Amino acid sequence: MSSSFPSVPAGTTHLTLNTGAKIPVVGLGTWQAKPGEVAAAVETALKAGYRHLDGAWAYDNETEVGQGIKNSGVPRSEIFLTTKLWGTFHRNPLENLNDSLSRLGVDYVDLWQMHWPVAMPSGQGKIPVNEDGSRKIDFDRNFTETWKDMEKILNDGSGKVRAIGVSNVSIPRLEELLAEASVVPAANQIELHPYLPQHDLVRFCQSKGITPQAYSPLGSTDSPLLQEPVITKIAQAHGVQPAQIIISWGAQRGVTVLPKSVTPSRIEANAKLVHLSAEEMKEIDELSSQEGKKKRFIKPTWGGWDLKFDDWK
Ligand SMILES: NC(=O)c1ccc[n+]([C@@H]2O[C@H](COP(=O)([O-])OP(=O)(O)OC[C@H]3O[C@@H](n4cnc5c(N)ncnc54)[C@H](OP(=O)(O)O)[C@@H]3O)[C@@H](O)[C@H]2O)c1
Repeated sequence: MSSSFPSVPAGTTHLTLNTGAKIPVVGLGTWQAKPGEVAAAVETALKAGYRHLDGAWAYDNETEVGQGIKNSGVPRSEIFLTTKLWGTFHRNPLENLNDSLSRLGVDYVDLWQMHWPVAMPSGQGKIPVNEDGSRKIDFDRNFTETWKDMEKILNDGSGKVRAIGVSNVSIPRLEELLAEASVVPAANQIELHPYLPQHDLVRFCQSKGITPQAYSPLGSTDSPLLQEPVITKIAQAHGVQPAQIIISWGAQRGVTVLPKSVTPSRIEANAKLVHLSAEEMKEIDELSSQEGKKKRFIKPTWGGWDLKFDDWK
């Protein structure tokens, strides 16, 4: 498939979800931000102008994220805040949502996403595992059933969630969901970076009105992407950091980008986008098609459950 995307106009700072809500293109990621670091990172980001925070119940740091919001002095109403439903709560999503709201110290989230389209058994800790180390699955609970419960919570009048979405959902699994859903997911948060551009999935989401969101946009911790010659060459040409090129590339594809950092100078730089030429976009779009370059960094083993990503074998 050709890799060109409809160009997003230079200076685009927000996308519009299928609910009509605006979502800032760049959001601060909070996974793996250690205790003691997250509140400061959130405060720094909000003071630097970020208005989008990506979190999850499973990151075990939502209390600190909430603290960072309070410390920043930025009104809650100005912030687009996301949390995610964890797999062991697929049979009781409201309990998990209420816990997130309580930890965050807020009345609502702007986006509540199903973290993975896989139910795990409850009562066996956060990540129940099989003897071979793979994650245990609750095979009697299909994720489409969980989605229906999320729809009910969206529409229950409580106002606890303003939009619902998914994460880690492939095209075949999205088709399965859309066949049964009353509410089209507002967003699908997936691993997206130049080594894993997932062009087909991004286009599929966009064709259905589902906003794609780029997680691990820099290739996660200790990423080789930041030394990738194609990226460093373009960074030098623009006089910016490699991370800024990768984030700008994502933004120009019409996805929201969620870089995580706890380093103030990086937090500030990551929000400063540059406009890439059509040639630069094409070069980055095609990087993963070079021999040995394609790489997925986040790949937990789900015991016997097929996410149906074609590279997930
Ligand atoms: N839905 C899901 O299943 C899922 C899965 C993974 C991630 N996510 C979300 O996506 C977010 C981002 O993904 P991620 O945390 O895996 O990784 P990432 O954002 O791709 O990379 C984070 C790493 O890059 C470093 N970094 C940040 N800015 C940099 C810069 N300008 N120059 C050099 N290094 C820089 C960070 O270091 P410092 O922090 O030390 O500065 C950190 O080590 C997560 O935090 C989470 O919110 C969601």
